[in-house]
Amino acid sequence: RQNERESLLIALNFAKTYFQELMQKTDEGKSIGLSYFRERGFTNPTIDAFELGYSLDQWDGLLQEGTKRGYNPDMLEKAGLILRKEAEGGGKAKTFDRFRGRVMFPIHNVSGRVIAFGARILKTDKNQPKYLNSPETTVYHKSQVLYGIYQAKQAIRQEDVCFLTEGYTDVISLHQAGIKNVVASSGTSLTTEQIRLIARFTPNVTILYDGDAAGIKAALRGLDMVLEEGLNLRLLLLPDGEDPDSYVHKVGADAFKAYIKQHSQDFIDFKASRWLTEAGDDPLKRAEGISDVCASITRIPDLLKRQTLSQRVAQVFHVSEQSVISEINRLLRKQQ
Ligand code: CTP
Ligand code: MN
Ligand code: MN
Ligand code: MN
Ligand code: MN
Repeated sequence: RQNERESLLIALNFAKTYFQELMQKTDEGKSIGLSYFRERGFTNPTIDAFELGYSLDQWDGLLQEGTKRGYNPDMLEKAGLILRKEAEGGGKAKTFDRFRGRVMFPIHNVSGRVIAFGARILKTDKNQPKYLNSPETTVYHKSQVLYGIYQAKQAIRQEDVCFLTEGYTDVISLHQAGIKNVVASSGTSLTTEQIRLIARFTPNVTILYDGDAAGIKAALRGLDMVLEEGLNLRLLLLPDGEDPDSYVHKVGADAFKAYIKQHSQDFIDFKASRWLTEAGDDPLKRAEGISDVCASITRIPDLLKRQTLSQRVAQVFHVSEQSVISEINRLLRKQQ
């Protein structure tokens, strides 16, 4: 097992270097891959820090190069780098590269080893997924990984807060803008394992999700999970249609930081402001809102925190603290 793990990591590292060299040294790589990243505003140091690359638009470039260098095709398949299609009627199976004609985002574990890839198509095309990702392997468990954690961990400790975004390019563009304490859940809905990974470096999380319906939904889902792990949470939705990548390019690093300062909310304000807008004068809707915020408070393991937050809920909704506490207790009893 240990041996297989190490072999996969070595194969994945070979693939990473191969994709990097294709992008830096071949005509196709330079004119398509590198210029794609240039158009997105990525500088050389950024491209190096994230070890970005390009996969040629060929069937089996990596398979051929890998085989030539002594990598076992079975190992390349187990690493998620090549695909095998059994031929119909018992002929010889066909093997070919999983990633072809895409820009490559290596996914690193906490210690900086490449465990998987995300691969973006260059031009959006309805018939193909925008991002193609490595499958689950012995070394890659999607639910346990945060994109960018290796490049971010020192800054997360230093700043004592982790910004959590949705995507690869959000992490990269913020990093380039000097905001380095950033990771991404990469399209999967946030998991407890990912939150525990953040908790190794800081107890403070700020969710920065895309300002669209999917982003709001994901933020509300992630919210309770972060609270359950006992972390302190703030949230911020980018303006509609923007994500951290597009927004930091639009307004620059300083305005982006100011925007976070001004517009991030703790989870009570985040939820309450939505409920209060929706409820207006409707007392039943307000009650529903109070109950919803209280439900999130019941997720918090620390009793003292629950109590102080109850005061805040009471203030925000203009009700007595006692009624908030009773609601929390009612919900807690219901959960038992
Ligand atoms: N994602 C994925 N597969 C897809 C679409 C998205 O795995 N077909 C993941 C990627 O990790 C992506 C993240 O979900 O980075 C967020 O998706 P989205 O906001 O659509 O992409 P962006 O990160 O904004 O990518 P880009 O700016 O390149 O369009
Ligand atoms: Mn495993
Ligand atoms: Mn999105
Ligand atoms: Mn984007
Ligand atoms: Mn996005």
